[in-house]
Amino acid sequence: MPAVYGSAPGKIILFGEHAVVYGQPAIAVPVNQVTTRTHILADPAAPAGLVIIDAPNIHLHARLSDLPADNPLKSIANLVMASLNLDHIPAAHIKITSSLPLAGGMGSSASVTVSFARALSAFLGHPLPDFEINCIAFEIEKFHHGTPSGIDNSVITYARPLYFVKGKPIEWIQNACSFFIVIGDTGIPSATADVVNAVRNLWQQQTEKFDQLFYEIGHCSLIARAALEKGDLAAVGRQMQQNHLLLQQIDVSCPRLDLLVKSALDSGALGAKLSGGGRGGNMIALADSETGAHHIADCLQSSGAARTIITSIPVNR
Ligand code: PMV
Repeated sequence: MPAVYGSAPGKIILFGEHAVVYGQPAIAVPVNQVTTRTHILADPAAPAGLVIIDAPNIHLHARLSDLPADNPLKSIANLVMASLNLDHIPAAHIKITSSLPLAGGMGSSASVTVSFARALSAFLGHPLPDFEINCIAFEIEKFHHGTPSGIDNSVITYARPLYFVKGKPIEWIQNACSFFIVIGDTGIPSATADVVNAVRNLWQQQTEKFDQLFYEIGHCSLIARAALEKGDLAAVGRQMQQNHLLLQQIDVSCPRLDLLVKSALDSGALGAKLSGGGRGGNMIALADSETGAHHIADCLQSSGAARTIITSIPVNR
């Protein structure tokens, strides 16, 4: 059996994080500058069924059969086998490497699932279609985050900018012009599940207020989609400002995120906001040129960003 590969990008949320968990629309784009790769090589000389899994980013080197039933990698393997009606994997060596930061709001868990499920199903002779890969990734996101909206697994599986409403068919964003997003990492790890739980507690205590804030966040996504499809980046930037203010009100920003957002705006970004779970992780800034994006990235680094990534989104029609 030849070696097989599977890969998946990272992602960032442009608009609508947290509100998307409560049924509001959100917009996300893939980030191809960071990837997860899975490489599977058959090992015919090994005893039947000996599957070794190596995931250096999480310091894992183990037999797949020794992993506990609730291990996410084992769960991915089980879900792929169930989809294919198979009950074992021939002896093999699996290596998963990722350049995505863990707990950084770039979708590391979904990226690992998509890349591993793609590679494993190909290795087993039946590459699963994206629809099924996305379903598996959603199941695993539930394991990681409890009540995920499904946006991370969707944008990472399909690797296209999307407009997402929980439980509804995915809509693709047809942006009329290309644009650049600068991602600034606060360097503060933040577990999405913890922040989602904290927001849920606040929502339970102040339901009416939070429902209104979520609605207003969803409105930012709606207006931003129309602006992207018209090619009005200044209007997109204004919605980012508004979305960041609303995210501050649901208490998911933090001083470092606010500082980096201000630094991006001072250096000419059309808009800036936190992205993903918040309380750490990443912020994003919008630029209409590559030169502008590099200048913003330099300023973010001078303001203390632990790392910056520039990603460009081409016209999508
Ligand atoms: O995975 P992150 O940190 O980019 O954030 C996920 C976005 C949330 O809206 C906070 C949660 C969700 O399931 O949509």
